[in-house]
Formats: sequence, structure tokens, C-alpha cells
Amino acid sequence: MSLSLSADQPTVPDDADDGVWLECIECGETFAPFDDVRYTCDECDGLLEVRYDDLPTLEDYEGQGQGVWRYADALPLEEGVTTQEGATPLYEVPRLEEDIGVEALRIKHEGMNPTGSFKDRGMTVGVAVAKELGVGRLACASTGNTSAALAAYGSRGGMETLVLLPAGKVAAGKIAQASLHGARILEVDGNFDACLDIVQELAQQGEAYLLNSLNPFRLEGQKTIGLEILEGFLADYDTVPDRIVLPVGNAGNTSALYKAFRELVQVGSLEEDEVPKLTGVQAEGAAPMVEAVENGADEVRRWEDVETRATAIRIGNPVNAPKALPGIRETGGTAISVSDEEITDAQRDLAGEGIGVEPASAASVAGLRKLRAEGIVDDDERVACLTTGHLLKDPDAAAAAGAEPEPVPAETDGILEHLSE
Ligand code: F0G
Repeated sequence: MSLSLSADQPTVPDDADDGVWLECIECGETFAPFDDVRYTCDECDGLLEVRYDDLPTLEDYEGQGQGVWRYADALPLEEGVTTQEGATPLYEVPRLEEDIGVEALRIKHEGMNPTGSFKDRGMTVGVAVAKELGVGRLACASTGNTSAALAAYGSRGGMETLVLLPAGKVAAGKIAQASLHGARILEVDGNFDACLDIVQELAQQGEAYLLNSLNPFRLEGQKTIGLEILEGFLADYDTVPDRIVLPVGNAGNTSALYKAFRELVQVGSLEEDEVPKLTGVQAEGAAPMVEAVENGADEVRRWEDVETRATAIRIGNPVNAPKALPGIRETGGTAISVSDEEITDAQRDLAGEGIGVEPASAASVAGLRKLRAEGIVDDDERVACLTTGHLLKDPDAAAAAGAEPEPVPAETDGILEHLSE
């Protein structure tokens, strides 16, 4: 199986361009990377992955600058359309670490990217590839963050952007971003999965270039989250993390992290048994990946009705499942679902350590707490939790989870009296 951790270095096909090509994960068909627009395999419609003839080791990155483009040698292009994405903090959370009861806990806060989510790492690559391909309009379906990032990177690249959003289910901060960065916003009377079906059809008809995570180039940029986490743990603990816990929607990040680690195994920077256990967390109301992992299924069953306060991961048809399921299994990871209350509690826990995240992001910490309580995560594990988006993305959820403002008179004595009550 091509997605196994022990896969050999692939043979370079004739259609490779400068040592880079696209390969179908199902049938192995190869394609030139930048000659035509394609998102899936022409032969079998399987998902595509970017392949390289010569991948760097971890040591090769030393002295290479900071952020996503530090890792250019593991990316399909030398440079991107950039606003300095990546190089996000790997926060210590000593109280939470002790409370949850693991050897080490670090929070990789992707909300600290330019538009406030990890999507920037994918867009800096994806929008640059769009320019390379010479396409016109860029488009995505989105629960919000992808649309914000596409709008920002599209405008920076001087390109037109179109975003399809599920009406009434996108947090205010994200719509504001897409709007100000100049995207044309279509509010669809349907959920995210319906939006993605439509935007895929538009892309097939040549109306727009698709920048959802089905696009294999976007996931290349998101690999850098995994590389930064490994480098951070090696610097601080002299070892890679035992486990990485992350929220799952379309399972793009799960796929991207697994690919980053497979490539490191291939070049000998990581032993197979050292690869962090990829552990996915979904909301109870939108948990098709968890269902598949629990049932040991090779495919995910699409959930038609999904609901959760964590609107970013309100997704019933995780399109990257064929890449992500092997990642969870091969690394010895797992998947778990959490309730909306558990998500909000974790959002408060993180806020109590000074880290502001949106609900979907807090799912990782909620999932870790639950897995630790169930004894699935051991107390001697070193764990990284990914928090994917910033608190300000969803101000309404933050206000609802936090304290109410208290009205007081505009004078000191009145305020002192109020405080003493
Ligand atoms: N966390 C946040 C904050 C997200 O916005 C998303 C996905 C995820 C987690 C899930 O990541 O798809 O890689 O498993 N948001 C997409 C969007 C769907 O449109 O912004 P995944």
C-alpha cells in the first residue's frame, strides 16, 4: 500500500517536473504537476498526492529561516504567495498538563497565523500553484476559515476569489475576513458538504480553481505543522512527541501530518516506531471519522445531518478520509468524539492558560482529557495538541463561554461598592 509507513522511495516517472509529480493513492497513476488542472486521478478518481524524487532530512532544514518556506525543499515550489505564515508558538501549559496528567503537554497554536488559522499554510502554497497553472478565479467551500485564508491569499496574489458558505453556520469573524479581503461570498442554503459538492462541480466545469483540501498542493503546506512540532519537541525534550491530538473536519491536517512523517521515515530522519500517534477528535454531532475508526472500516459513511457548536468542524463527509484513516491506523493512533459542553470546557481551560481558541480547536484538548480519563492515553506520554483557529474567529462562542459584562455607574465609589457585593 502506497500510504504505508514503510513504503519505499517511489520511482521517478517521466512526467515529473524538476523531481516533482502527482501520484494517485489508489491506482498509482502519475501525472505532471503543473501541466493541467486536476484534483483527482483521471483513471480512477482516487485522491492525489505530491511526490518528490529527493526529500530533505530534518537536519537539512537547519539555518533555513522561519515559517512555511523554511521547508521549501519539501514543497512543490521554491516560494509562495506569502504573508509570513507558520512558525506558530508551541505553548507550555503547566497547569493543564498536570490536571490532565501527562508527562508533557504542549499547545501548537495555529490561531497565531496571519488570518488566524492553519489554512494559511496551505494557501501560501495552493495560491502560488494556481498562479503557476495560470488559472483565473479561485474558489472554495468553507465552514469559514478556508474562505478567510483564500480571500486573503487570493487578494495578495491579485486573483479573484469565490467562496461558498453554509448559510447561518459560519462564525462572524470569518465572514468579516472573507468580505474585507474581497471574496465574492455565496451563502448556500445547505450544509458544508453540499457547498463542497457544488464547488467541485464548478471546478470540474472549469469555472474556478478549487482550493479545498482535496487540492493536493494545499496539504503540502500543512505538512509544515508536523515538521515544526517535531523540531520544537526535539529542541525542548530531545525526542519527538508520542502523540499529536487534533480536531478533524475534512481530515486534511491528519493526512498532511501523516505525509510529513512518512517522508521523514523515507529519508531516515524518523524510525517507524517513533512516529507520533495521530489522534483525531470530532464533535459528537459530526463524527463520521470516529465511527469509521471505531468500526475498523476502510471507508467513511457520509453523515447527512450534522450539528455542533464547533461550526468549523460541522462536516459529515470528510473527503480526505482515504489518506487520513491509514495515518491514524499506521501510527497506532485513534479517534474520539466529544460533546459541545466538553469542547466549551476545554476552551475555558485553554483561556485559563492565556490561550484563546475557537471551539473546534478546543476539541483537541477535550479529546485528550477524555482519552486520558479512559486510560487510552498513558500518564508517561508527551503530547502535542493542535489548536487550529483563534478565539476572535468566533466572538459569539467566546462571549457565551466567558463571563458576562457587569453594568456599573461611571464613578469610583459606585464601582467599589459593586466590587464589594
Ligand atoms: N479546526 C478549524 C478551526 C477548522 O477551520 C477546520 C476546517 C478544522 C479544524 C478541520 O480541519 O479539515 O483538516 O480536518 N475548516 C474548513 C474550513 C473545513 O472550511 O475552514 P481538517
